[in-house]
Amino acid sequence: MCGIVGYTGARQAAPIIMEGLKRLEYRGYDSAGIAVLQPDGSIGVRRDVGKLGNLAARLGPDPLSGHYGLGHTRWATHGAPSERNSHPHRSTDGAIVVVHNGIVENFRELRAELQAEGVQFASETDTEVIVHLVALLAQPGVSLTEAVRQAACRLEGAQAIVVMSAHEPGRLVAVRIGNAGGVALGVGEGEMFVASDIPAILEHTRRIVFLESRQIATLDADGFRVQDLHGQPIHLVEHAIAWDPVSAAKGEYRHFMQKEIFEQARSLTDTLRGRINFETGEVTLGTLEISAEDAKKLKRLVTVACGTSAYAGLVGKFIIEGLARLPVEVDYGSEYRYRDPILDPDTAVLAITQSGETVDTLAAMEEASHKKARLWSIVNAIGSQAMRLADGYIAMQTGPEIGVASTKAFTASITDQYLLALYLAQQRGTISPAEQPAHARALAHLPELVSEVLERHAEIEALAGHLYHYTNFLYLGRGINYPIALEGALKLKEISYIHAEGYPAGEMKHGPIALIDEQMPVLAIATQDRVYEKMINQIEQAKARNGVVVAIGTQGDHALAEKADHVFYVPPSPEYLSPIVNVLPLQLLAYAIAVRRGCDVDQPRNLAKSVTVE
Ligand code: AGP
Repeated sequence: MCGIVGYTGARQAAPIIMEGLKRLEYRGYDSAGIAVLQPDGSIGVRRDVGKLGNLAARLGPDPLSGHYGLGHTRWATHGAPSERNSHPHRSTDGAIVVVHNGIVENFRELRAELQAEGVQFASETDTEVIVHLVALLAQPGVSLTEAVRQAACRLEGAQAIVVMSAHEPGRLVAVRIGNAGGVALGVGEGEMFVASDIPAILEHTRRIVFLESRQIATLDADGFRVQDLHGQPIHLVEHAIAWDPVSAAKGEYRHFMQKEIFEQARSLTDTLRGRINFETGEVTLGTLEISAEDAKKLKRLVTVACGTSAYAGLVGKFIIEGLARLPVEVDYGSEYRYRDPILDPDTAVLAITQSGETVDTLAAMEEASHKKARLWSIVNAIGSQAMRLADGYIAMQTGPEIGVASTKAFTASITDQYLLALYLAQQRGTISPAEQPAHARALAHLPELVSEVLERHAEIEALAGHLYHYTNFLYLGRGINYPIALEGALKLKEISYIHAEGYPAGEMKHGPIALIDEQMPVLAIATQDRVYEKMINQIEQAKARNGVVVAIGTQGDHALAEKADHVFYVPPSPEYLSPIVNVLPLQLLAYAIAVRRGCDVDQPRNLAKSVTVE
């Protein structure tokens, strides 16, 4: 996650920005930078790789003075961590400066277009196209806000951007597109703040305004104004944030689970950062490595996990078998260790665990270690046992997941298994270099797909109004989306206390179809894929028995609306990413129903965020 802090007012900007970046330290970073308009009218910039302390050390002997500036901490996507790839990025004449969170998916064509205009690039980042585009558009008579607005309309992907200019001293312009990262405006007395998360500015003001997707804000010391990307003025509500860190951490959201659902475009951007070359498709995991020789010798992968993480493993089975041609078994951690499993050095065991402390999963890891299997983990909690026990790990990098019901960790662990599958396929030679870029492009586009679905949350909230009173649900899916039926059912039952069962749709005729009547809604995942026709059959069979059918369908599939009682449409997506796109409405539906039922969404009864006891 990148961190952004901006200030304009009467005080010195640098100390405020540096302290704000420090308060975003939980987001982690590989480089940091700051820009301040100096008394001589030039914008001074200092940048350094590594921890924020390195930048502070550079500022000590070489301070920046001025009342208006920007700061940034970076997770690398395009361009390795280095001083030249650090933000802020500058226009050729140094008069315009940008910081950015997200991925400009069309940066290659924009870079080529700008180079054709004679622009010289100083870095390998996608971000740099933004500052040169703004500079090109900020012709005399065109305000910074208008130039930024026009530039933002050219960008594809989810972004959070803040811009400053020596030509408009004291003015910051902030844009948010999708959910790549928040943009919070802090309203002070004669000063304004902007940050990617409110802990950075809460010590200065509790008056916070949250930019929503496709909105642009202009900040001056005496206030701010907001417009949409068409230039139409917008009025946003000012929130009075309670001082306590918990509500501060929830920001504009009512529950952590809600915040974590809506963070998924950003958390998926972060879990991809620095791990895949979006041009060649080459995957480098860093903390998990295996030689080509050993990868070719692998006979089997055993995935062990619990609950939602186990369902992510079931999705990963399709992807890893499909790309790396490696047989994958998925087992519950709580069952695995009592089976005296057959393991050897040519077996890899993959533990998936958000907390990294689930006792059943850790026990399975111990078993694997004792039997000399190669042990890997996909884990979110940095420094947890599952990270330390493994021979190699992939950090989910989603930031802390506080809600007991796992959401962003689930989609991150599927994405990380996709990266693992591509890495193993590279090492085993089961896909050609020519095939890799297509997977990289699909993954680069994923955050935007996620944003597109989440932006339509109101449709799910309306659907919940028709469903929240039912006391039993059946979730049906097939193929790679069968595990999504399991996950959707688990989400509903664990936060709304409604009985819900996930089932492979093809199994209905072997028993569960006896359950279906008008009191048993069937949630069918029927997006257009290789098992679509089979799913339509299941829907027709449920309807024939007076079932209430809610379908997740592919945009444009109007025939589905003829068959199901309710349909939520998602954008078309590649097979390996469809589980991530399809689970989003199910997360939102579980959340909306639980809220309507007055349940304690973040801390459901009888549950714990990490099951550290048997
Ligand atoms: C998911 O919403 C539940 N909270 C639960 O099933 C969870 O996924 C399971 O306990 C595993 O936790 P872990 O990923 O931290 O190991």
